Formats: sequence, C-alpha cells, structure tokens
Amino acid sequence: MQGAAQPTEPEPEHSSIKDTAARSICCLLIEAHTNIPSQPCPQADCLVAAGLRSRVLTTSDDRYKTRIESYWCNSAKLNPACIVQPTSASEVSAAVKALVEHEQVFAVRSGGHTNWARSNNIDGGVTIDLGLMNSTTYDAATETADIGPAAKWKHVYEELEQYGRAVAGGREAEVGAGGFLLGGGNNFFAGLHGLAFTAHAGGEHADLFRVHKGSGNNFGIVTRFTMRTMQSGLVWGGFAVRPMEVMPELQMPSPPLLPIRTWIPTARSTSRWATCPVWAAALCNIWYTLCFKNDASIIVKANDLHTELASQVQEKVADGDFTTHCSFQPIPRTIAQHSVAAGGNVLGLEQYAHDAIMIQVNVSMRTQELADWARPLVRGVVDGVRAFAASIDDGVCPWLHLNYASPDQKVLESYGTANMLRMREAAAKYDPRGVFQRLCPGGFKLAAVKG
Ligand SMILES: Cc1cc2nc3c(=O)[nH]c(=O)nc-3n(C[C@H](O)[C@H](O)[C@H](O)COP(=O)(O)OP(=O)(O)OC[C@H]3O[C@@H](n4cnc5c(N)ncnc54)[C@H](O)[C@@H]3O)c2cc1C
Ligand SMILES: *[C@@H]1O[C@H](CO)[C@@H](O)[C@H](O)[C@H]1NC(C)=O
Ligand SMILES: *[C@@H]1O[C@H](CO)[C@@H](O)[C@H](O)[C@H]1NC(C)=O
Repeated sequence: MQGAAQPTEPEPEHSSIKDTAARSICCLLIEAHTNIPSQPCPQADCLVAAGLRSRVLTTSDDRYKTRIESYWCNSAKLNPACIVQPTSASEVSAAVKALVEHEQVFAVRSGGHTNWARSNNIDGGVTIDLGLMNSTTYDAATETADIGPAAKWKHVYEELEQYGRAVAGGREAEVGAGGFLLGGGNNFFAGLHGLAFTAHAGGEHADLFRVHKGSGNNFGIVTRFTMRTMQSGLVWGGFAVRPMEVMPELQMPSPPLLPIRTWIPTARSTSRWATCPVWAAALCNIWYTLCFKNDASIIVKANDLHTELASQVQEKVADGDFTTHCSFQPIPRTIAQHSVAAGGNVLGLEQYAHDAIMIQVNVSMRTQELADWARPLVRGVVDGVRAFAASIDDGVCPWLHLNYASPDQKVLESYGTANMLRMREAAAKYDPRGVFQRLCPGGFKLAAVKG
C-alpha cells in the first residue's frame, strides 16, 4: 500500500475559505456548476476553495444520484451534503486537509460494497468517493500491479489476464479493491498465499503498513495498492449447495488443501432452505460471521441453527420474499502462515493453532422493518454456534472477518490485545489529532473500542 493520505498540518493555501469574498466566489462557482440556486453547503465551499471545484457533486447533480444509487446495500444509500471525487493522491490529500481544517465530518468510499449503513457514506457530511481512482497497471519488471482503491476486481483480473497474471483479489466481480484489501480480503489464493497481500513491507513505515491490513479506515486513506502478481490459471470455485443429509460429512480433511469437491463428494443442488430470492429488487441485508475449529459437530450445529432461522423467517414472511444464507469457508492454518510470511497483518489469525471454518450467516429482507426484526435472530445463530463451539477444546477461533461482520460484532477486539496495542500506537503516531477517529466515524473504529 502506498500513498496513505495523512492529515498533516493544514497548508495555508487551503484556508482561504475564512475570507468572505472567497466564500461567495465559491458559492457562485458551485451554482455555475450545478445550475441550482445556491444552497448553503459549507462543506462544498471548503472543497472548492481547496481547488476541487470540478470534483464536487452536490445533491442536485445527476452524478450525485447515480453515485448514491450505486451503493450495493440499500441502507448505505444515505444523503451526504456533497460528494467529492478526487482523481489523485494529491486531490485526496487536499480534500482531507480542507475538511479537517473546517472540522467537517466525512466518509470514505471505494467500491461501496459494505453491507451495512454508514461505513462508507454519511448523512449530512462529505463522502470522499474514490470512484474515479480505479485504474490497474501491470509492471512487468517487478511483476506487480498498481491498483486504484475503487478498481473492481472484474476489471483488475481482465487487465492482468492480458499479461497472463493474476492477484489474490476478491471473488466477486463488483467488489472494490479498497475495502476488500483493508478488511483482510479472503481470496481465491488464500490457501496458497494467505489473505490478500501487497507487494512491499512498508519500508520505514512498516508499522503503518502492517496495521492497515485488516483494520479498514482507521489510519488514513489509501490511494494506491501495489500487489504482487502470480501466473494466472484455472481456479476451482463457486457456491456449493448441499442437501442436509451430507452435513455430517462436511468436516475439512487434512491436508486442508484438498479441493472442496473431494471432501464433499455428494454435491448437488437443492432449493430446500431458501425460497425465491428476488435479486432484481433492492433488499436489506444482515450479515454475521464467526470462525470455529474444523469440527464436524460444530458444522452440524451451525446448519441446524440456520435451518431453524430459515423456518422462523419463512413463518414471518409468508410470501417467501427473502433469502437466508449460511456459507462455510475453510480457513486452514496455511492462510495465517502465508500471511505472516508475506509481512503479517493485525488479524491475529496465526495465534489459532487449528484449521478453522468461517461461517457467514446472512439474510436479505424486503424492508428495513423486516430486517430489524430478523437481526436478533441472525445474531442468535452465531451466538448459538459460538456457545456450542466453546464447549469443545479450542472450539472458538477468536478472529472475526471484518468484511463479513455485522457492525455490532467486536471485530478489532477479536484481533487480540497485542494487535489492539499495535493499532493504537500506529494511530497515535500517524494520526495524532485523531482525525480518522473523530471526523470519519464510519466503519469499525479504534476509538469505539472500550478499555
Ligand atoms: C457480493 C459480495 C461479495 C463479497 N465477497 C467477498 C470475498 O470473497 N472476500 C472478502 O474478503 N470479502 C468479500 N465481500 C466483502 C467485501 O470485501 C467488503 O464489503 C469490502 O469492504 C468491500 O470493499 P469496497 O471497496 O467495495 O467497500 P466500501 O464499502 O467502499 O468500503 C469499505 C470500508 O473500507 C473503507 N475504505 C474503502 N476504501 C478505503 C481506502 N482506500 N482507504 C481507507 N479506507 C477505505 C471505507 O471507509 C469503508 O469503511 C463481499 C461483499 C459483497 C457485497
Ligand atoms: C473507472 O471509472 C470511470 C468513471 O466511473 C468509468 O467510466 C470507467 O469505465 C472505470 N474504469 C474501469 C477500468 O473500471
Ligand atoms: C451473502 O453474502 C455473500 C458474500 O459472501 C453474497 O454473495 C450473498 O449475496 C449474500 N446473500 C444474502 C442473502 O445477503
């Protein structure tokens, strides 16, 4: 990762907004840009004064609406006072400095794929939308790829495939690089290379580099990721839906790198759990995650609790307009070992001595009201699985995968006290004014961790 825009002392040229004459010029410029009568928008004013006039989208701009609509999750479609779309690291830096100087709250967005509200968007504040920073360039000499934070994995793969190369990126075409990588992305190559990794160890900022891997937006805004590439080839993948009867056979064998199809031989598709997913329309999503020892009895327990959840939801939503989902993903020890070899991260996964299984339990509902009703039930499933796993030796793997977690899950705490300390030290060193804790409230924040 490179170019984390840090909120250093504001530079004098960005402070001209204090001058009333400058302010009225800014308003005029915004008006000319959007063709609407001026609405007071101090956030836009300060960005314009910082030289970002052409990058600011106000609420009446069609592009503002398009960007809000493009959030993956319905509840993330909030109403920022304005959106700023920088095109370079220096513009990101100018935007952050201007907002910090005027004590304006902001959110950071890359691909916009978080499944819950406020991590990547903010009502009444400024959303720094990195959407225009989406390029992928391959450097044959170093066999690395420079990837913009808002690049979608589909485009990253397409670009690199021309050179016969691939990266350990996302498994879903539309997910953005930024959030995925900063969440410790689980990827097609994790068993071979660890969680999504980047090419450099960070040099003199090795501490900052390391804490970024797994902690989201706590330390700054990353404007470019340099990833190691590998030869591309065929990857076995996909969702495998199983009939219930095979659940007891699902335990991952040793060695864990056997392809899934060889440890679940009776694969066939079933429509038994989920009724009629209506993908075309917008849905409200709830996701929870948990990681536990690779033990068949825990897998069976999780399956039972999910089945119970599905029937409760079915009873409530008689028209069947919902989806429930419980996926089991192998997290063999090799993932942590390879991640450590690649420079480490802050997830603490290497402290768990067993092969693990990660579950993701999610439910999609038609309305927010139904989603609010379902939330405690979904949480109940992971709580139930955790309680059961805790009755088995080392049954619970403490790590919670940021990219799959619900906002009320204690993700940063799950990395362990040593890693919490690492993150706190890096925050104090690189963001002494606490900008990314105070002014950028969305996501899993260090400042929100008690104790
Ligand atoms: C359909 C689907 C499939 C998925 N599959 C996988 C998977 O296979 N493996 C996996 O690990 N995850 C997966 N995820 C989860 C996904 O990785 C996370 O939702 C991730 O945060 C999305 O990245 P984004 O850039 O689109 O997110 P955004 O919502 O734009 O950002 C996520 C968070 O990261 C912060 N952030 C984003 N970019 C930056 C930056 N450049 N600098 C600082 N902070 C930043 C944001 O402020 C926000 O808090 C999937 C999600 C969906 C919806
Ligand atoms: C990058 O973003 C621009 C603006 O949204 C879009 O037109 C372009 O197709 C994107 N490029 C890639 C490679 O995704
Ligand atoms: C559950 O999460 C996965 C990502 O792992 C996503 O592809 C799927 O659409 C989600 N399903 C629901 C019902 O939200």
